[in-house]
Amino acid sequence: MFFSLIKNRRSIRKYKKRKIEKDKIEKLMKAVLFSPSSKARYPCEFIFVNDNELLTKLSQSKPHGSAFLANAPLGIVVTADSTKSDVWIEDASIATTFILLAAETLGLGACWIQIRKRKYSKTIDSEEYIRNVLSIPDNRHVLAMVGVGYPDETKMPGQEGDLEYDKIFFNQYGNY
Ligand SMILES: Cc1cc2nc3c(=O)[nH]c(=O)nc-3n(C[C@H](O)[C@H](O)[C@H](O)COP(=O)(O)O)c2cc1C
Repeated sequence: MFFSLIKNRRSIRKYKKRKIEKDKIEKLMKAVLFSPSSKARYPCEFIFVNDNELLTKLSQSKPHGSAFLANAPLGIVVTADSTKSDVWIEDASIATTFILLAAETLGLGACWIQIRKRKYSKTIDSEEYIRNVLSIPDNRHVLAMVGVGYPDETKMPGQEGDLEYDKIFFNQYGNY
């Protein structure tokens, strides 16, 4: 079951107008809160956004790759307190991955939107822009956002034939 899940998961950027049911939102909440954390520090916090006006503002966080969020019924903003953990990026990345996998399990489509190291404009970072839109404290980082909704596009599952097994070595680098 896990293997069909990881094969079928694709980035979904087009969503039906349909609302996401409360029980599914609650499962997405569980998924992020159950995600593992180095030294059990749990530095991440998550903002679930279903307000259309806010989603439109968030969709403008960077010039490319975030516009589709305007038409998502849900955006999940993944933030972390870097003073709680020196490996907050890893923790936040795992939580974001859990969202993608949980969404697939729930029959929803999702797509990661990179925010860390991205720019809203020449002088303003995407995370600074998002902090302002959502009143996030200055000492919190924004790693990513995830657009979530019922899929309005279909994509081929990952193909076994495309797997690059030459990237996997045994015992020593370069040894097959
Ligand atoms: C770290 C990371 C950042 C990503 N950032 C974006 C993004 O900003 N916008 C976007 O549309 N897709 C983004 N994606 C989705 C990738 O484009 C996508 O995973 C890749 O093209 C492979 O397609 P698949 O997810 O359907 O297998 C990101 C994925 C990862 C893992």
